[in-house]
Amino acid sequence: MRTQYCGDLSSQHIGQEVVLCGWVQRRRDHGGVIFIDLRDREGLVQVVFDPDRPEVFKRAEQVRSEYVLKITGRVRARPAGTANPDLATGEIEVLGADLEILNTAETPPIHLDSHAADASEELRLRYRYLDLRRPEMQARLRTRSRVTQVMRRFLDAHGFLDIETPILTKSTPEGARDYLVPSRTHPGEFFALPQSPQLFKQLLMMSGFDRYYQIARCFRDEDLRADRQPEFTQLDLEVSFMDEDELMGLMEALIRELFRAVIGVELPDPFPRLTYAEAMRRFGSDRPDLRIPLELIDVADLMAGVEFQVFAGPAADPEGRVVALRLPKGGALSRKEIDGYTQFVGIYGAKGLAYIKVNEWTTKGREGLQSPILKFLPDATVAGIMSRTGAVDGDLIFFGADKARVVNESMGALRVKLGQELGLLDGEWRPLWVVDFPLFERDPVNGRWVALHHPFTAPKEEHLGLLESDPGACLSRAYDMVLNGTELGGGSIRIHRDAVQRQVFKLLNISDEQAEERFGFLLKALRFGCPPHGGLAFGLDRLVMLMTGASSIRDVMAFPKTQTAACLLTDAPSTVDEAQLKELSLRLRTRA
Ligand code: AMO
Ligand code: AMP
Repeated sequence: MRTQYCGDLSSQHIGQEVVLCGWVQRRRDHGGVIFIDLRDREGLVQVVFDPDRPEVFKRAEQVRSEYVLKITGRVRARPAGTANPDLATGEIEVLGADLEILNTAETPPIHLDSHAADASEELRLRYRYLDLRRPEMQARLRTRSRVTQVMRRFLDAHGFLDIETPILTKSTPEGARDYLVPSRTHPGEFFALPQSPQLFKQLLMMSGFDRYYQIARCFRDEDLRADRQPEFTQLDLEVSFMDEDELMGLMEALIRELFRAVIGVELPDPFPRLTYAEAMRRFGSDRPDLRIPLELIDVADLMAGVEFQVFAGPAADPEGRVVALRLPKGGALSRKEIDGYTQFVGIYGAKGLAYIKVNEWTTKGREGLQSPILKFLPDATVAGIMSRTGAVDGDLIFFGADKARVVNESMGALRVKLGQELGLLDGEWRPLWVVDFPLFERDPVNGRWVALHHPFTAPKEEHLGLLESDPGACLSRAYDMVLNGTELGGGSIRIHRDAVQRQVFKLLNISDEQAEERFGFLLKALRFGCPPHGGLAFGLDRLVMLMTGASSIRDVMAFPKTQTAACLLTDAPSTVDEAQLKELSLRLRTRA
């Protein structure tokens, strides 16, 4: 129907007759002349209708926002002084010769111009097809498409095979709640939607495919956040006969290629690596945002035995932690701002946020400090804090003291908040690997061992013995790729021996019978010549969110769900009729 996209026109087309198809962004009547801004996925162009063709002019007068038009006309330079430098096609316009209204449109409930972002997200999701017409949304989904193209090209060039795995399957242990699908043909039985293709990709290695990938949909019924959706996409991979260094090198190369090809950014080569222990110690997080130049500094030894129990208690507790966080020039913070941060750390369970303002330490020593806790701290402790944090006049030092988990979460989050709010970001893109994760951690509620990654992650060879003697000290062969504080992807070298897999299940309190029932097929497959293998999965939505500068993964998904896991566009989930329930052998419980 068309000869060109609106947005592709430029002064090089002056004099040409063109046929354009698109939507009406705006119509303006100007003293007997009608201007229509016509929009398609490539951009906008201005079309002018003169009254000298009365019939066409009349049709142009009927046109409203979002009408769908086919316009024939000739490209011409805009008259001197009327070029629009804000528009890519601003040098030219099209003199309309003919206009066909392909479809009309009701008045859109959201503006599709620059005020669009002001519409509530609810309205945007309800009318998603309109929201997606906006250039910003179009650009994000195009970037997403570019990303998957580059991924496929890279992986194909490296010998990876694209293989699909089932969506109707058995529960997999990624740790979230499953979405279940009742079986009609097996009354009372359920499929689970995959939380990831984890077990199938391992089976594909046992089948000898050597290098697998899939752009895979995953389903997890968990509490949602800006970077979590119930249904999301992974770039999922698995390889045989590679160790972690080889695999991590290849994955880095993929991400570097993506950033170069899609957004023209050169990422470091190689990515820095941090051990889990170091990341927790310095940043209180296993996905540190390295752009923020603030660190947690341990001071428990300086606080041991001080009069102030809030610090002395955790300092003496093997599970406790006491840290200082120096904020350069933080002395300028007001009381109100400090109260705000105190409230903020409270969200993470911190019982307070002690601080010292360093006003005139150089000249006045202790007298030059200002703090509600100073009176509890002996001179040696104060001197120790000052030298260890390197604080200088004008700085502020925050303190956190509690169980290590609370301190890491609250002070780690405070570090990020300060970095963002005070504009301290250093550098634009700071990727890293986090390695040497513990294999297990204790469930904070019942104290049982749970897998930090998933139960198929291999322990380090040299730590196999610790499975018996000290499971908590056993490190795994897992790795996470982190970018700017977001976990982009994670994976591990897997257990490929039946006996080790059984031992790990046992530690996780999965009995032989349960293991047989849930993962019997995997355990059996391990006994038929399983190659050493490992893999990784990237969160595609998160990756595109970062690459496009979006603040939520909802903005890079065409049809996302709300915080309560509903689709406002289709109104899913919805009730079903009695006949369908009956066919599935289901009866609803009456609500309590
Ligand atoms: P994991 O559970 O760490 O590993 O998931 C891999 C990556 O997927 C992304 N991700 C999510 N993105 C959006 N919404 C969610 N709800 C969500 N959950 C996870 C994250 C994460 O890093 N099978 C293993 C991988 C492996 O071992 O190979 C797995 O799924 O970016
Ligand atoms: P309080 O004795 O409760 O008035 O606390 C004195 C100071 O210590 C206040 O600035 C509190 O915010 C701070 N504080 C209390 N508990 C903690 C804690 N667990 N970690 C860090 N600071 C705390």
